Formats: sequence, structure tokens, C-alpha cells
Amino acid sequence: MKTIFSGIQPSGILTLGNYLGALTQFAELQKDHNCYFCIVDEHAITVPQDRLKLRKQIRSLAALYLASGIDPKQATLFIQSEVPAHTQMGWMLQSISYVGELERMTQYKDKSEGKEGVSSALLTYPSLMAADILLYNTDIVPVGEDQTQHLELTRNLAQRFNNRFNDILTVPEISIPKVGARIMSLQSPTKKMSKSDENTKAYISMLDEPKQIEKKIKSAVTDSEGIVKFDKENKPGVSNLLTIMASCTGRTIAELEQAYEGEGYGVFKQDVANAVIEKLAPIQEKYYELIDSDELDDILDEGAEKASFTANKTVAKAKKAMGLGRVKKRK
Ligand code: TYM
Repeated sequence: MKTIFSGIQPSGILTLGNYLGALTQFAELQKDHNCYFCIVDEHAITVPQDRLKLRKQIRSLAALYLASGIDPKQATLFIQSEVPAHTQMGWMLQSISYVGELERMTQYKDKSEGKEGVSSALLTYPSLMAADILLYNTDIVPVGEDQTQHLELTRNLAQRFNNRFNDILTVPEISIPKVGARIMSLQSPTKKMSKSDENTKAYISMLDEPKQIEKKIKSAVTDSEGIVKFDKENKPGVSNLLTIMASCTGRTIAELEQAYEGEGYGVFKQDVANAVIEKLAPIQEKYYELIDSDELDDILDEGAEKASFTANKTVAKAKKAMGLGRVKKRK
């Protein structure tokens, strides 16, 4: 059985982008893969966070994973900072990462541009992400399109480690969904939808109420042509709404284009809003059942224990390969 690993940062309430780009794939994959899903809180602190908000978001993300269909009997769900092997392996991989390749990461450039007091962890973030993945002998990493560059680096680091020390790390493949790999901002549809966007109208949070969803989709930026057609270049707003609707309903873009031929944007937007509301309603219901439950704590405790078991084995092998620690003389 192949192993899957994926992670999400608790840096805000998840957006529809996170859901359609990543989370929807997970529930399907867990049926026939050995899956690890992680709340990567150590990644979130590479930029300043409010302590109390972060705590809340970590728990909220855990509940959203489960509400979206992650089954703790099939998959291991855990919090990164509760498995110390991640930072241990992250440090080892930092020691073989080059500053030049880290500086070339677009996420680093975007998040550091024009900022003062950029943390060194923001630069070395991809080495920790590589550790997350490589600790579990991961074969496949399901993510949205924006993670492609980080995955390439992970593969390079795994190969570099294997060549330099010992052939112990599995080189993972990336898996990107055919539709929904890059959901765009509702307000600037040439930018990706992001949970850290300052304009709350730019994204749909997975916990938005139906009225808010409707309002945000109705005010989504489109164009003045009035034709529902997929054309990413010239009609990014409408194309994004088509993608959202296709991902939420399972219908193809071509089918939708045909269905809305001759209709204005008003009817189309209302239907997109309804499709999103329908998709998120059962998830939200489950979320509120779980968020304050003991069950959630039990699942995360068990997840951390299971993840540590595998991760510690990889750390021990990697330490040995690199010559860290000692060989005990005492018999
Ligand atoms: P993060 O927390 O930004 O996003 C979590 C997942 O959601 C996907 N995603 C999107 N997909 C489609 N459209 C969008 N607008 C959109 N925005 C986000 C992301 O591609 C991702 O799959 N570095 C990672 C977290 C991470 C990780 C890992 C992922 C840390 N370690 C190991 C995989 C494996 C990140 O910042 O994702």
C-alpha cells in the first residue's frame, strides 16, 4: 500500500481553495493508501501569530479535517509540534539545503518582500516541509498547485541525502487535482485565494454562513461581457467561478458552459453560491459537533503517537547515516 502525506497550516480558517485543492482529495485517498495528515503549526510560526488565535486555529483545523471526511481509523491525523521528530529531521535537512535554492522559493519571496524583520525560519521553511514528508517514507503528496516548487525541492533534498549519506529516503511524487488545483481570489482573480488575505471578501472560509457565501460570490469580480465561458486569460473571474462550481458539483466545465449559455451572471452566480453552500453545509454541521469534543483530543493523541512511531525510526536512521550521536561501547 502506498503512503500519502499532506499538511495544512493553521494560519487562518481554511478557505474553499484549501478544501477544493487539497482536503477533498484526502477523504478519497485514505480508502486505499496509508495516510498521514498533519496540522503544520510549526510552519505557521514562520510569520508572527497571535498565541490564542493560533491555538484556536489548530483545533479548528483538526475538526475541519475530520468534518471533511478524514476517518481516524483509516488515516493518522496529528499536530506537527506534538511529534518532535519533525524539527529534528528538519535540522538535518537544513544542513544539506543551500541558501541560494531556499531564496529562490516564490513563497519566500512573496512573504518576505518589502517586510522588515523576516524570520530565518521563513527562509528554511521548505527544509522543514521536506522533513514532514520524508519522515514517513511518503510515496505521494496530494497538494494544490502552489506547492509544486516546494515538492521539487523536497525531491532534490531526498536525492541529495541519499547520494551523500545512505540510500534511506523515499523520493516522493506530487499529486495535483485536475480541477481545483488553484482556486483564485474572488476580488483579484489573477491571485490565488488565500486564508491570510486581508480582504475577507476575497475568500470563502469553510465556516462562512450561507448568507456570507452568497454575498461574497455575488460581489466576485467578473467582467462586462456577460458570457459564461472558461477563458482563464481574458475572463479569470468567470473561469474561477466555473472551476468552483465544477469542483463542488462534479459536473464538467464544458457541461456548465452549455447549461448557462444565454444566461447572465446573476443566475450563474446564484447557482455557484448554492453549490458551495450545499457542499459546505454538512461539513459545518459535523465541525460544530466535533470542535469541543473529547473525541477530538483522543484522535489527536493517538495520531501523534502513531506518527511518532514511524517518524522516530526515520530520524534514527538519518542520524546514523549522517554520523550524529554515538555508538555505545558498553555491551
Ligand atoms: P497551505 O496551508 O497554504 O495550504 C494547504 C493546502 O491547500 C492548498 N491550497 C490551495 N489549493 C487550491 N487553490 C488555492 N487557492 C489554494 N490555497 C492553498 C495548498 O496547495 C495545500 O495543499 N507548505 C504547505 C503546508 C505543508 C505541507 C507539508 C503540505 C507543510 N508541510 C508537507 C504538504 C506536505 C502550505 O503552506 O499549505
